[in-house]
Amino acid sequence: MKATAWLCAIPAVWAFGTSLEKPLEREAPLRCPDYSSYAFRRHPPFSAGKFELPYQRPDPACRKFNLSEVEETIRSMKTVVKDPDLFRLFENCFPNTLDTAIAWKGKAAKPYSEKDEDLTFITTGDINAMWLRDSANQLQSYKTLLRANKSSSSLASLFRGAINLQARYILTSPHCNAFQPPTEATSLTAEYPFGAGTDYVVPTPESSAVFECKYELDSLAAFLQLSHEYYVGTRDTTFFGRHRWAEAVETIMNTTSALLAGTYAADGSVAPSPYQFQRQTTTASETLGNGGAGSPVRNGTGLVRSAFRPSDDACTYQLFIPANMMYSRYLGLCADIMDKLDRDKARQMRSFADSIRVGIEKYGRVNHRLFGKIYAYEVDGYGSHNTMDDANIPSLLSSAMFGYVHRSDPIYQNTRRFVLSNENPYFMSGPVINSTGGPHVGPGMAWPMSLIVRILTSDDDAEIVDSLKQLLSSTDGLGLIHESISTQSASIWTRQWFSWANGLFGQMMLDLRERKPHLLGLSYQ
Ligand SMILES: *[C@@H]1O[C@H](CO)[C@@H](O)[C@H](O)[C@H]1NC(C)=O
Ligand SMILES: *[C@@H]1O[C@H](CO)[C@@H](O)[C@H](O)[C@H]1NC(C)=O
Ligand SMILES: *[C@@H]1O[C@H](CO)[C@@H](O)[C@H](O)[C@H]1NC(C)=O
Ligand SMILES: *[C@@H]1O[C@H](CO)[C@@H](O)[C@H](O)[C@H]1NC(C)=O
Ligand SMILES: *[C@@H]1O[C@H](CO)[C@@H](O)[C@H](O)[C@H]1NC(C)=O
Repeated sequence: MKATAWLCAIPAVWAFGTSLEKPLEREAPLRCPDYSSYAFRRHPPFSAGKFELPYQRPDPACRKFNLSEVEETIRSMKTVVKDPDLFRLFENCFPNTLDTAIAWKGKAAKPYSEKDEDLTFITTGDINAMWLRDSANQLQSYKTLLRANKSSSSLASLFRGAINLQARYILTSPHCNAFQPPTEATSLTAEYPFGAGTDYVVPTPESSAVFECKYELDSLAAFLQLSHEYYVGTRDTTFFGRHRWAEAVETIMNTTSALLAGTYAADGSVAPSPYQFQRQTTTASETLGNGGAGSPVRNGTGLVRSAFRPSDDACTYQLFIPANMMYSRYLGLCADIMDKLDRDKARQMRSFADSIRVGIEKYGRVNHRLFGKIYAYEVDGYGSHNTMDDANIPSLLSSAMFGYVHRSDPIYQNTRRFVLSNENPYFMSGPVINSTGGPHVGPGMAWPMSLIVRILTSDDDAEIVDSLKQLLSSTDGLGLIHESISTQSASIWTRQWFSWANGLFGQMMLDLRERKPHLLGLSYQ
């Protein structure tokens, strides 16, 4: 997810108190309030259930993007979701990306303009920068509403704009995770980048475009995921041939091929690491050991290295299994698009995807003393491995959600039982919420995102109902999905404005409408 180093370094309860006392409107006299401060307060009318959840959508005039199909979906869900609090949570969360995070939508200027290229700049919510991973997930929450549509005010156009801008970013600095607004977005000012001027990064990123340059394999997979969702929703193959999509895919393949290499050359010397990163920090997971190259990895495993996780924390071992699963999955699926453009390239994509899968099944499985054969979170190819899961997607728990495995797969099921048990060192439990967390915010803080993924990967009504109850009762009366919540106190949490998690909640509710509509008819009081 997203790197709020400054936010997470301070106790969340302190962040909460301070922001309540010091609303941003006072500093920025804009007609539309900053949503960071807006989301900190409870706005009427309140829902009719015992949680009395506030109405947190911005005033219509302050919404960033309007789509009638989203409004229609909210109206139709009102007749399906009988619990007034659960409906309110959906009503606040589902449109949150459109309401608050589409910071800019427009057309590419020269030298790209001759082809009428859409661009969409999507912020994470509370940070004015675009993460490849977050933005792909933010749009994914609307994927079931996607239809072919040429209009520049359509959902399809939002997807096209995000794909085009991500392609530009990847072609500019393929190892980076978060980016500045495009130069065309003259209404937006660039944010002071993370680690500006002090991070040591090889290869050197393009400083004018980049917000942070942590190499995370799943960021590249996110571009493929977004492309695949657009293709499934629209079947618009001509779009992919129109701009620089194929070139971006080739860049991704070249970048990841270089990261198949192990630490040592054939003669025993140290091979130059294709990526290095060091930051001056007191947080161990914000920098890489061994001169910025990370822990040694074995050559020839078929797995692609990742320096960082989707939490933006450093990998302990760089053969990070969930991102390899996701990359293999979407590289294979996007070969169907590439078939229409370049059959030879499509064949290379399938073959690369297959060899990664072979590597995962060979090196990524371990035997757990209680759960039997499970997937490891990270391995190094030498035998060292990390048995854990983190809430951020891709995770082991979410591997059935993005379709690397079927949810009935026995190894997935073993892994899932392990992840959702106290044997997972980052499973957090307590009276408020039981769910996976991670080192990003730290022990004791459970992430609602992983409860949502738990629902999306479950067929068990009791498990789904229990998870929904926990989500509904842990918003601290704010009616939006937080990043993390203390297992011991619902009033301690991080991030009041986390667009991805809000969207994921909406996506999960639409999924339940398809799979388990009777559960949406229940009372959660
Ligand atoms: C969304 O619709 C409202 C009216 O309902 C309008 O005031 C607002 O400007 C629209 N937002 C955009 C970005 O078009
Ligand atoms: C295309 O999108 C626009 C803007 O959302 C909408 O008004 C129009 O009805 C859509 N067209 C079709 C054919 O769905
Ligand atoms: C990918 O690598 C090949 C072989 O080195 C090279 O010919 C090609 O130009 C590269 N493509 C891109 C987009 O960088
Ligand atoms: C690393 O493994 C690949 C694939 O098995 C092989 O082609 C390459 O020669 C190996 N490199 C070294 C330095 O051993
Ligand atoms: C979390 O799990 C523990 C142990 O099973 C249980 O006592 C507690 O009630 C659970 N908390 C929630 C919020 O469900």
